[in-house]
Amino acid sequence: MRLYNKHILPNLVHFACSLKSVMRQREKIVPLARGRVLEVGLGTGLNLPFYDASKVNKVWGLDPSSEMLDRAKERARAVNFEVELIGLSGEDIPLETSSVDTVVVTYTLCSIIDADQAMKEMARVLKPSGELIFCEHGAAPDAGVRRLQDCINPIWKRVGGGCHLNRDIPELIERGGFKLKSLNAMYITGWRPASFNYWGTAELTIS
Ligand SMILES: C[S@@+](CC[C@H](N)C(=O)[O-])C[C@H]1O[C@@H](n2cnc3c(N)ncnc32)[C@H](O)[C@@H]1O
Repeated sequence: MRLYNKHILPNLVHFACSLKSVMRQREKIVPLARGRVLEVGLGTGLNLPFYDASKVNKVWGLDPSSEMLDRAKERARAVNFEVELIGLSGEDIPLETSSVDTVVVTYTLCSIIDADQAMKEMARVLKPSGELIFCEHGAAPDAGVRRLQDCINPIWKRVGGGCHLNRDIPELIERGGFKLKSLNAMYITGWRPASFNYWGTAELTIS
C-alpha cells in the first residue's frame, strides 16, 4: 500500500483532477482569488495557471503530500506571482490569524481527515473582509446515487487516498464558521458518485 500511495496514487489523482470537466470548474472560481491567498490542498498545482496575476500578490500552497508538491513545482515557477509551497496539513495552518484575503480549496475537503478542524483553521487565517472560494465534489441529491456513494465509500477511501464520496460540502463549510455568499451545484461529466460538484464563495459568519 505504501508503494501505491507514493507512486501510483499521485498519478491517478493528477489524471482525475486534470479531466476537461474538472478544469472547466477551476476556470469558474480560481480567477476570483485576490491579494494574499492560501490554497489548502495545492496538489500538483493545477489551479495555479487560473489565478489572475494582476489580482494576486502571493499564494501559499499547503499540502501534506511531498509527492504532490514535487509535481507542483514546475507550475509554481511558471506563474507571475510568488508561490510558497508548504508541506503541511489544513488542520494546522502555519499562518497568522486574519492574515489572508482569500482561501481557495478545490477537490480537497473530501480527503482531509479532520475536515471540521481544517475549516476552523481556514476561518482563523482569513481576514474579516476575506473570502473562501471552493469547488468540491460531494453528497449527491438523488437517493439512488447517494446510496451508492454511502455503500462504496469505505472501499473508495482506501484506494482514493482518503477521499470521501459523500461529504455534505455546504454543511461542512457553514459548520466551520462561514456564511455562503454563492452556491452552485450540478453533476459534471464523469462517474456520477464522484461528479456531483458544489462551488461558490463564502465569508466569515462574524466579519
Ligand atoms: C484530489 S487532490 C486535489 C488537489 C488540488 N486541490 C486540485 O484541485 O487539483 C486532494 C489533495 O488533498 C491533499 N490533502 C489530503 N489531506 C490533506 C490535509 N489534511 N490538508 C491539506 N491537504 C490535504 C492531498 O495530498 C491532495 O493533494
